[in-house]
Amino acid sequence: MTSSLPNATHRGQDLAGKVAVVTGASRGIGRAIAFHLARRGANILGTCASDASLGLITSLQEEVIAHYKENSPGSPTPQIFGVVAPLTEPKICCDNIVAGLKEHFGGVVNILVQNAAVAELRPMDEIDQGHITRSLTGNFETPILLVQALIPLFRPDSRIVNISSEAARLSRPGGLVYSACKAALESMTRVWADGLGTRPGMERTTVNALSVGLTMTDLMANRPPSKRMDDFVDKETDKVSVGKRMGTVDDIAEVAGWLCSEGSRWVTGSVTCANGGVTKIL
Ligand SMILES: NC(=O)c1ccc[n+]([C@@H]2O[C@H](COP(=O)([O-])OP(=O)(O)OC[C@H]3O[C@@H](n4cnc5c(N)ncnc54)[C@H](OP(=O)(O)O)[C@@H]3O)[C@@H](O)[C@H]2O)c1
Repeated sequence: MTSSLPNATHRGQDLAGKVAVVTGASRGIGRAIAFHLARRGANILGTCASDASLGLITSLQEEVIAHYKENSPGSPTPQIFGVVAPLTEPKICCDNIVAGLKEHFGGVVNILVQNAAVAELRPMDEIDQGHITRSLTGNFETPILLVQALIPLFRPDSRIVNISSEAARLSRPGGLVYSACKAALESMTRVWADGLGTRPGMERTTVNALSVGLTMTDLMANRPPSKRMDDFVDKETDKVSVGKRMGTVDDIAEVAGWLCSEGSRWVTGSVTCANGGVTKIL
């Protein structure tokens, strides 16, 4: 699952020379976004939760080298570095990302994709202080502090993409805290868009949220057999307007890639949907 990027066709390197931080780049949607941006020329600082996943980011570099060798021999291959950045430890998370940017990319960042999340679901009667604290720290406090820490490193025409979920607008069992955190991230997106777009040093920067629907990641692929979950997935995929299927990580990466590119320069403070039409934001 981690390496299955089926539509990895080669395109122009319109992001060549850019530096992108992608949180949660070892697996799932974040990995696909990191690969997509690298395919378009961006250098990547990818994060993961622990040392155990750093090897997955190294293997991403190998995939990118193989991709360039096959599709664009002679073009400089983007560099990909991994760094451990645990969301539930905001200071360590921010310090490690800033240090990684300074060590590998001269302390510059052009693209930030806030993808990693504490995706803990809990029935409402089982919510406890620990669940609330982990969710709020990882999904609310750390994203705020990370943007703040990176402000001195951003350049004009930067891009920030915050990965949200359609759960922010739905009443999902177990999602009381998680969904509220995603709604907060969308709200913060609007404030960042207004506050950063004209800030000296990062003029014309855009900040958008990407509302993601049910997507096939390791989490979904490796789920234990459960009729309740299977029924839920069937019900959700049945609502997809463009074909009764679950989203793929590549479906999401394409839209995130556009939000990271020059072509999206007139879009900011928005919530863009990548869900096949399941939830329509009016
Ligand atoms: N998949 C879906 O159906 C779906 C739907 C809506 C929204 N989303 C959103 O999409 C984003 C990515 O989800 P995904 O399904 O791709 O997840 P995933 O396959 O489980 O991958 C999660 C990534 O985030 C990292 N991560 C997880 N917990 C972390 C923590 N506490 N600190 C630092 N890094 C952490 C993981 O690193 P390690 O490898 O070290 O664990 C991994 O790289 C999330 O924001 C999620 O809320 C997903």
